[in-house]
Amino acid sequence: MKKIALTVVMGLTGFMAMPFSANAEVQSLRGSLEINDDSKSITAAKPMSQRGGFERSYKLQPPMIPHSIEKDKITLKTNTCMRCHSAENYEKEEAPKVGDSHFIAADGKTLETLSSRRYFCSQCHAPQNDAQELVENTFKGAK
Ligand code: HEC
Ligand code: HEC
Repeated sequence: MKKIALTVVMGLTGFMAMPFSANAEVQSLRGSLEINDDSKSITAAKPMSQRGGFERSYKLQPPMIPHSIEKDKITLKTNTCMRCHSAENYEKEEAPKVGDSHFIAADGKTLETLSSRRYFCSQCHAPQNDAQELVENTFKGAK
């Protein structure tokens, strides 16, 4: 009985002390703004363009997109990426052709048209922006 009472007391003290000690260390993403103040507006990160593309970190990495895709649309009816990256258009647009792997179906057969598994390009390929890293990134690619 004594033990239970002691645990309860310890629990209560811990509970009461917590908000005070936690307050000192934890910073909200809104900074020290009062709850009723408006958040600071976010500066939109600029998409990066890089001639020649970005270096890959490992052999089979989907290459990152070295241009803005703000005007591109990938829906069930249209895929504007293929206006430049399809086998028909890539030479004219001076863009790299989608990888050969993009024409292989789930059963291993090579298709005439893009495999549906590769239709939603941005599932694997990401544009880059000049945002600051939130924490230092020490990732090293394996070549
Ligand atoms: C107006 C034409 C155009 C459109 C539309 C376009 N791209 Fe590109 N893309 C290019 C060109 C040109 C390059 C080559 C840039 C360079 O290397 O300097 C490129 C490069 C790339 C690369 C890099 C390839 C590598 O090997 O490094 C990827 C990935 C890519 N585009 C994906 C996309 C995706 C996904 C979309 C749609 C959301 C898209 N692109 C829409 C023209 C286009
Ligand atoms: C499931 C993931 C995935 C999807 C979806 C995907 N890709 Fe890729 N892509 C890759 C990978 C992995 C590579 C690198 C290996 C290769 O070439 O297959 C690549 C390579 C590429 C390359 C460079 C080819 C080269 O020869 O250097 C281009 C350009 C590209 N993709 C464009 C696209 C476009 C455009 C779409 C949408 C129509 C798309 N990809 C959809 C994974 C994907």
